[in-house]
Amino acid sequence: MIRPKNVKEIEGMRDAGAMANTVLLETAKIIKPGISTREIDEFAAECIERYKGKSAFLGYRGYPCHTCISVNEEVVHGISGTRTVQFGDIISLDVGVTYQGFIGDNAITVAAGGCAVEIQNLMDVTQRSLDEGIKAAVLGNRVVDISRAIQKHVESNGYSVVREFVGHGVGRSMHEEPQIPNFVDGAPSPKLKAGMTIAIEPMVNMGNPEVLILEDGWTVITKDRKPSAHFEHTILVTEEEPEILTCATRMDSKVEASS
Ligand code: MF3
Ligand code: CO
Repeated sequence: MIRPKNVKEIEGMRDAGAMANTVLLETAKIIKPGISTREIDEFAAECIERYKGKSAFLGYRGYPCHTCISVNEEVVHGISGTRTVQFGDIISLDVGVTYQGFIGDNAITVAAGGCAVEIQNLMDVTQRSLDEGIKAAVLGNRVVDISRAIQKHVESNGYSVVREFVGHGVGRSMHEEPQIPNFVDGAPSPKLKAGMTIAIEPMVNMGNPEVLILEDGWTVITKDRKPSAHFEHTILVTEEEPEILTCATRMDSKVEASS
């Protein structure tokens, strides 16, 4: 059973979401040609520490980094290391933080310096597909309506959605029910209810949808080695419009209020 969050839990999710998005955006700003993926991860780790959060990823099923950093053909769960970012690379940065027992999970893909217009289009379509998915996260709909909106936007633009990894409910645990696929799979699909907090995260490949996992046991890459993009938000289903919980603005206003 999927238990919607109560008012107190939702407040906790707002705080965690604001922090997760603040860390994501601050870290994304330092992504430039010449930086190593490890430096990006370390910057995010310091940022999380400064806000008194914890990485939701570090140690999760043995995951070794604070964030996921996936370059070009890497889809998700990229492990940072000595690799240096090159001009024209695209970097998918996934940040999950735990704050006061609640988790905010979000991701963006950015280009280092700049990138080919075809690759920018892949990123734009992926981000837009997330927007379409969020718009479908309303009462009266089921999870599959989110999935359908994402898949439709992606495929009508000539790209493909990854099947093996999906979005998810999120709360005190990073992965709660229900799963949020980025494609219509024909399985029975739960109704959306006010108070549900879910992470919607389309992973979109320029070429074929197939993926492989590298020998490190984590890094997911496209089988055809073509680029892939990933955007993610944690959202709250409400009686009205969906609320984006991974929203740094709330964090900014809190910081201002306390200074
Ligand atoms: N956003 C990803 C997810 O929800 C990140 C998980 S990385 C892991 O699955 F290492 F923690 F698994
Ligand atoms: Co997620």
